[in-house]
Amino acid sequence: MSDHRESWSARSGFILAAIGSAVGLGNIWRFPYVAYENGGGAFLVPYLIAIFAAGLPLLFLDYAVGHKYRKAPPIAYKKLMNSEALGWWQVMVTLVIGIYYASVLSWAGSYMFYSVGQRWGSNTEDFFFKTYLANGEGLAFGFVPTLFFGLVIVWAVVMFILYGGVRRGVELANKIFMPLLVILFSILVIQALRLPGATEGLNAFFTPNWEAMANYKVWLAAFGHIFFSLSVGFGIMLTYASYLNKKANMTGSGVVVALANSSFEILAGIGVFAALGFMAQSSGVPVKDVVSGGIGLAFIAFPKIISSMGSGGDLFGFLFFASLVVAGITSMVSILQVPIAAFQDKFGWSKNKAVTIIGGVSAVISTILFSTHSAITFVDIIDYFANNIGIVGGGLLSIILVSWFRRPLMAQLQAHVNQYSSIKLGVGWNFLLTVITPISLLIALLLTIKAIITDGYGGYPASTLWLIGGGVVAFFALGAIILSLMKDTTSKEN
Ligand code: ALA
Repeated sequence: MSDHRESWSARSGFILAAIGSAVGLGNIWRFPYVAYENGGGAFLVPYLIAIFAAGLPLLFLDYAVGHKYRKAPPIAYKKLMNSEALGWWQVMVTLVIGIYYASVLSWAGSYMFYSVGQRWGSNTEDFFFKTYLANGEGLAFGFVPTLFFGLVIVWAVVMFILYGGVRRGVELANKIFMPLLVILFSILVIQALRLPGATEGLNAFFTPNWEAMANYKVWLAAFGHIFFSLSVGFGIMLTYASYLNKKANMTGSGVVVALANSSFEILAGIGVFAALGFMAQSSGVPVKDVVSGGIGLAFIAFPKIISSMGSGGDLFGFLFFASLVVAGITSMVSILQVPIAAFQDKFGWSKNKAVTIIGGVSAVISTILFSTHSAITFVDIIDYFANNIGIVGGGLLSIILVSWFRRPLMAQLQAHVNQYSSIKLGVGWNFLLTVITPISLLIALLLTIKAIITDGYGGYPASTLWLIGGGVVAFFALGAIILSLMKDTTSKEN
């Protein structure tokens, strides 16, 4: 069978889609609260080190494998080193991330409309937990209709884009949404910087707190965040690179993508901290006391800030949540594209069949789980396990298998990337991937597992944590084993 693989229309289409994938909820919702909880400005140093020590080297590895074999992770890793299960592990991670990503995306969509008229009232925390999420005690499975409708809309939009395929779906959506995001976000950041007290917030963000850097958890947070943010280690960049033309400048594109992603992230930090500075000044307290961190930062603090701006806050709120939605949709599409491509590659499914089955099953599970009274508990625990174990573990394994156990492959992949790339990969990349990246990830993974065993996570009862978090990890492992053992029904093609 000849190679009918879809492709981007041009290099710019790929770069735009890759930026669209990288820039998402991770940049606007996750980065500010992770930075806030991990020493503010102090977080920037480990964050930048994590990009150079692990993010960029793995980004180039993902590109190299995806582009050389022109397949999604399972078949690409099978062809590279007979490690199909590793590819399926990464696919399972994307399936799990997709189901909770839709949930946060639907919250942002709802809040976009709540901004008009500031419908959250005076107690934004109560509104978020009690009124909007109808959060229950412990695990509570009752039905919450508002959440249900939000999820149905998100899944309908995402599946509509995916039915369009790589060029007329994913690429086109990015061509529309990315410029829109830049406009919305620029207005938002300029507005935030003009608020009284903004400087105070920025000082809190940019003043390095060297003591916090001595805390290993700050480093874990940086390494745990960077893969999610750059979309590496769980098959997305690998799959996107598989749609590139043969003569592709991968390193040049990768540097553009990484720069754009970090610029957005830091800009989001600037916007959020400027707004926190405003809040601190209006309530006469230091920035660090203004709000508690965590998942609620965007959905509790922002509405609070918006309310304190008077009626002008409506527009500010709308822009903030619209930016979250726009950035999140292009990332959500990229997350789902991984399992869709993987099932197409292995079982020869048509694009429509893959979108209908993968998207449909994910949508049903996501809609059932996340329109319950326990939506936020699921998001919090699944996000933690998917990132710190699913992504870090899968990324680490791909690096170790190539750079420690199949050394000759490193040279082949390096030569493949260098063939048409402007920036040549050399001994630096080799050294990072062989020594620095695997060792730092291994330490991060072991410390995370130790922390879960000894301290638990987020104050949840151990039974809840093991049921959800343990269930998710078991799903990654079982899915990887079962799917890799299944018979390949397009063997001629592969
Ligand atoms: N890279 C995507 C994000 O940051 C998944 O949200």
